[in-house]
Amino acid sequence: MKIPLIIGNWKMNLLSSEAANIAKAIQDFSKNIPNVNVILAPPFTSLHTVKQILLNSNVSLACQNFYFKQKGAYTGEVSIEMVKDAGCQYAIVGHSERRKLFNESNEIINKKLVCAVKNDIRVVLCVGENQVQRNKGKTFEIIETQVQQALTNISSKELENICIAYEPVWAIGTGVNASVNQVEEVHDFIRKIIKKIANDKNFYCNVLYGGSVNSQNCKDFLLCKEVEGVLVGGASLDINSFCDIISTASTI
Ligand code: PGA
Repeated sequence: MKIPLIIGNWKMNLLSSEAANIAKAIQDFSKNIPNVNVILAPPFTSLHTVKQILLNSNVSLACQNFYFKQKGAYTGEVSIEMVKDAGCQYAIVGHSERRKLFNESNEIINKKLVCAVKNDIRVVLCVGENQVQRNKGKTFEIIETQVQQALTNISSKELENICIAYEPVWAIGTGVNASVNQVEEVHDFIRKIIKKIANDKNFYCNVLYGGSVNSQNCKDFLLCKEVEGVLVGGASLDINSFCDIISTASTI
């Protein structure tokens, strides 16, 4: 039986008190739903508050970003040890907003990934093509490059602590989600690449879908054999929508 992974990426939203309200509601709702793995990714400033709320619950905490250096003169940055200290068990790496708005290259993403796994933090690696790349028929090429470069120098043992979120850039925050067919073929492709990297034809990697997931369309994705869960942006800021997604996942 698959245990779906439902991740709420709050991005740069919510003050601590608002984050606390949502976290309390999600924690409370998830109490009686043991067959879904729920993860919340608040902004740095709410990590501590949300961690206190999630103590002794089955909801986990993720950071949306960190810097790969251990410590030192990096004004404005936060290290992996710091996010771990703040209670994170997971880190989102390579989100398309980081790639596009903050110029994160595959090389930087790889450094972050190596840093996270060495520090026992599980990684949600985001990959995805933009609209122009899809229109030009370059989706698979882009995905392969992103996955391969991000996973350079990662051992097959370390791969076990990484899941991949396929998030087509054109579907993020647009209200236009990918079709189930599009998701299935890319997920299948990602699994093949991972098997090659792990050098193990039986290696199984969790692959999630993200991009305009909401309480109405989540079932279509969660029912797919190829989809282990969803990464939710906008709809994770609404308690009812996110609880509906968790509830739908529990019935799959
Ligand atoms: P969205 O964001 O659900 O608002 O499209 C998804 C994401 O960016 O992870």
